[in-house]
This record gives sequence, C-alpha cells and structure tokens, in this order.
Amino acid sequence: MSIERFLTGITTSGTPHLGNYVGSIRPAVRASLRSGVESFYFLADYHALIKVDEPARIQRSTLEIAASWLAAGLDPARVIFYRQSDIPEIPELTWLLTCVLGKGVLNRAHAYKASVDKNTAAGNDPDAEVSAGLFMYPVLMGADILMFNAHKVPVGRDQVQHIEMARDMAHSFNHRYGEHFVAPEAAIEDNVATLPGLDGRKMSKSYDNTIALFATRAQLQKLIASIVTDSRAPGEPKATEGSALFQIYQAFATEAETVALRQSFASGIAWGDAKNIVFERIDQEIAPMRATYQALINDPAKIETILQAGAVKARAIATPFTSRLRHAVGLRHLAQKNEPDTKTARAALPVFKQYREADGQFYFKLVSADGQLLLQSQAFASPKVAGQTIATLQSQGYQALSGMPDLVTVCEGVSASVVSVALQDLIDAKAN
Ligand code: TRP
Repeated sequence: MSIERFLTGITTSGTPHLGNYVGSIRPAVRASLRSGVESFYFLADYHALIKVDEPARIQRSTLEIAASWLAAGLDPARVIFYRQSDIPEIPELTWLLTCVLGKGVLNRAHAYKASVDKNTAAGNDPDAEVSAGLFMYPVLMGADILMFNAHKVPVGRDQVQHIEMARDMAHSFNHRYGEHFVAPEAAIEDNVATLPGLDGRKMSKSYDNTIALFATRAQLQKLIASIVTDSRAPGEPKATEGSALFQIYQAFATEAETVALRQSFASGIAWGDAKNIVFERIDQEIAPMRATYQALINDPAKIETILQAGAVKARAIATPFTSRLRHAVGLRHLAQKNEPDTKTARAALPVFKQYREADGQFYFKLVSADGQLLLQSQAFASPKVAGQTIATLQSQGYQALSGMPDLVTVCEGVSASVVSVALQDLIDAKAN
C-alpha cells in the first residue's frame, strides 16, 4: 500500500482562531492519526512576512500557532512538524518554480487580483502597495507543497486556487525536466472548511471578526454572544440558511445535534438561548486543550526544541531532493559529465487538462507548455461532451473556437495568436 502524504501550513501572522482550527488544525490532526498516511505540518513564517512587518508579532504568532497544534493533539513523533524558515531549500525551490510558471497565472491569483481591483476602483495605480511578495505568494506555497511531494493538502476553499497553481507548477517542471513532482490535490472538509466569523463574512484576521481558539471560557462566551443574527424575536422561526451562528455550530456538533438545533431554529428559539447552546458545545471541545496550550506557551524553549527536531526530519528529505532538482535543471558540479539534454530537447507542447470541480461539473482548460492558462471551458454536465469539445479543438484548431462561444473562452490577457499557434502545434504534433 502506498503511503499518502498530507501537508498543510498556517501563516504565522496572528493568533489562531476557530476558523484555523476547524479548517486546518483539526482535520490535519485527525488525518495524522490515521494509518497509511505521512503528515507534514508547518508554520508558514516566510508567508507571514508578506503581510506583517512587526517582528515581535511574527515571533509571538509562531509560538502560539505551534502551541495550538500541539495542544490540539499533534504528535511530533508521528508527524513531521517544522517551521518553514528552518528549511532553506524551500526558498530555493521557490526560485526554480518561479522560472517555470507563466506570469499570467500569477496575475489571475485571487489575492493579487483583489488588491488590483481595489486599487483600480479607488483610481490608484493597479499595483499600488502590492509587494512582489504578495504577487509571488502562490509560488512559495507551491514550493512548500512540492518539496515534500504531498498528495493531499487540507485547506479552506479560498486556498483551492493555490493548490491548482501548485499542480500547474508540478506539470510544467515535470514536462521540462522529467518526472520529479507529484501533482497535489486540495482536501476540503465539506460544510466546515470555511467558517464564518462574528460578522458573517469568512472568519479571517483581515476582517477582524475572529474568535480566538484559546480564548478563556468567559471570553469565548462573550465572543459567541456577539455573532450577528437577524432581529427575529423569541418565538419567531429562524432561518438556518445564511446563519453564521448555525454554521459555526455545525462545524462542532454531531449530525444529531445539528438536526436538533435546526428544529429549535424552526420552532423559534431565542437568539440568546441558541448562542448559549453553541457556546457550550464549542467549549466542550476546546476546554480540555486549554491547559496544555497554556503550559506550552509558558515553555517556549520546549517548543523550539520540538521544531528543531522537526527541521532535521524535514531536511532529511528536502536536502537530497533539492540536489536532485538542481541537477535536473543544470545547476551542476562542473566536473560532472555533461550529458546531452533529453527531456528539454523535445518540443514542449500545450496540453488540454480535464478536471471535475467541487460543483460536480466537468471542465477543461488548455495550458501552454510553460504553464500559462490559454483557454478555459464552461461547465459541462458530462465528461463525454467535454472530451468531444476538446477533440474538435484538437482536430480543427482555432477556427473551431468561433463555433463555440458559450463553451470555451480565451483567458484574460491571452492573445488570439498565442491560442491559435498553440492549437496548431497540437495538430502538427498529431500529424507527425
Ligand atoms: N496560504 C495558507 C494560508 O494562508 C498557508 C500556507 C502556506 C499553506 N503554505 C502552505 C497551506 C502550503 C497549505 C500548504 O492559509
């Protein structure tokens, strides 16, 4: 049986909150307890530098997040638990991946695009206040994942695009230099992967709407009491749909408990009472971990030792793997025999990639040899029809596109001639 590798990281830019716990820490710890899996958990402190320029806060956050994972049951003897910045091979791999990824892919990253859209709306330069670090964020994340050839990456839904990009980087690199990387997949816990915050938007440090994972019992109660609700009075039926309170409960409750609260909502439970139920349920899960957390926070040297031991394990993989990658790309000892390139000599072709999204629909895209997204299809209910559409494009080339305006679109910033040449390359390759 092959061992499945899980890997996930948390950016050390703040105090861990219930969203991190539900979306990342808890599923990761659970996965680590299964047999047949190998787990990698790390503190993404290089990522933190993108958002935070307060060194003390980064240090504090690293401590708090490490303590949270350990308190949540992560066993450092069973898993590889490390700090990103203890692995210098990761920034090195970031560069190798930077060189195989199309810049256009990064232009389309949600986080970067959101900043650009905000600037544009305010009439500012599109890149105002956007650091190159923010732009490059997905590549660093790709290096985190590909360094350990992780198969599954437990993340929130908002991070799925980054995993998709890591897959693109793996394909582009493998295509040029031979099979070195595994294409990773996102692992999302349904319903609970993205927890709403106090104001109903996604729970996030940037919205200042979080509930700290290790708030005291009293603080936790106060925070839960401040979750937004509508103004329905006691006795009036309440909607579970769109209720942040209900969704948060669901992330902690059993199926039966969830059904029971749904019924209480329908029969008009007072918001105050509902909040108390939610509070008690969450506290029931968190309370046993609180003492462990406090003890760990009070002994930072112990956590440092644990992380150093983790770095030794991680580098036992990263160091030799990086040597192999360096050799693959041509960063070689000069006395080594100069072998003719094989993989690279082959003409690089664009590829059609078919995939299925979480919505259950089928899609495809055309990606250039250097990883640039050229064409994107709409949703197809059947994989067969998607496949037929690809076949039409592969045999008829660019001219077929005009006959399918609703099915396939040329990606933003991609010129018609690039698409036309790419499709022609595929036709030529088939003919030869
Ligand atoms: N970007 C992730 C977040 O903000 C953190 C992260 C960094 C990560 N590198 C990763 C998650 C690699 C999974 C895998 O939540």
